[in-house]
Amino acid sequence: MPDSPARRLVVAITGATGAVYGVRLVQQLAATQGIETHLIVSDAAVLTLHQELGMQRREVEALAHVVHKNRDVGASIASGSFQSDGMVIAPCSMKTLAAVALGLSDNLIARAADVVLKERRRLVLMVRETPFNLAHLRNMTAVTEMGGVIFPPLPSFYHKPESIDAMVDHTVGRVMDLFGVAHTLAPRWAGMKAASDAQPDT
Ligand SMILES: Cc1cc2nc3c(=O)[nH]c(=O)nc-3n(C[C@H](O)[C@H](O)[C@H](O)COP(=O)(O)O)c2cc1C
Repeated sequence: MPDSPARRLVVAITGATGAVYGVRLVQQLAATQGIETHLIVSDAAVLTLHQELGMQRREVEALAHVVHKNRDVGASIASGSFQSDGMVIAPCSMKTLAAVALGLSDNLIARAADVVLKERRRLVLMVRETPFNLAHLRNMTAVTEMGGVIFPPLPSFYHKPESIDAMVDHTVGRVMDLFGVAHTLAPRWAGMKAASDAQPDT
C-alpha cells in the first residue's frame, strides 16, 4: 500500500508584531508527522523576526518543507489545483488583511489566501493591530463574510500561563485545532471544578 499523501498547510508570516506565533506554528507543524508545510515570509516579516526574535529569514525557512518567495505569484500554491487543507497567516498585518479582503493578489501571500477562499478551504488570519480603525474592522468583516476566520492572537488567562511561551502555545494550539491537527501545546479546559479545588463564593 502506498503511504497516504501528506496533509498540506500553507503558512505565511507577515510584518505585524508577533512573529513568534508564526515561528511556533511552523515549529509545531514540523514536529507533526504527515503535515507538509509551505511557508512564505514577507519582507516586512524579516524585520519583525529580527527585531523580536533575533532570527534571520533562513532560520525560519529551514523549519518548512517547502519555501516560496512572496514575489513568486507563479508558485504551486498560487493555483486552486494545488491541494491543501488551507492557510494560516501568523501574524497577519493590516496591509495583508486589506489585500485579502479586497482580493488584491499582487503577491503570493495575498494570492494564496485568495485561492484558499475561492476553493472554500480554511483560511485563518491572526490579525494584529491595536486599536483598530474602521478600515481594519470592515476588512475583517469582509474576510469573515467570505468564510475566513479572523483569529487575533489574544492571550487568555484562565489557564494560568506561567510564561510568554505558555501564552503563545495556547494560542497556537487553538489555531491547530481549527485544522484538526493534534497537539499537546496546552491543557484543555475541563471546567472550573477541575481547574481548582477552591470555588468562588457566589
Ligand atoms: C517592528 C514592526 C512592528 C509592526 N507591527 C505591526 C502590527 O502589529 N500590525 C500591522 O498591521 N503592521 C505592523 N507593522 C507594519 C507592517 O510591517 C507594514 O504595514 C508592512 O507593510 C506589512 O507588510 P506585509 O503584510 O507584506 O508583511 C510593523 C512594522 C514593524 C517594523
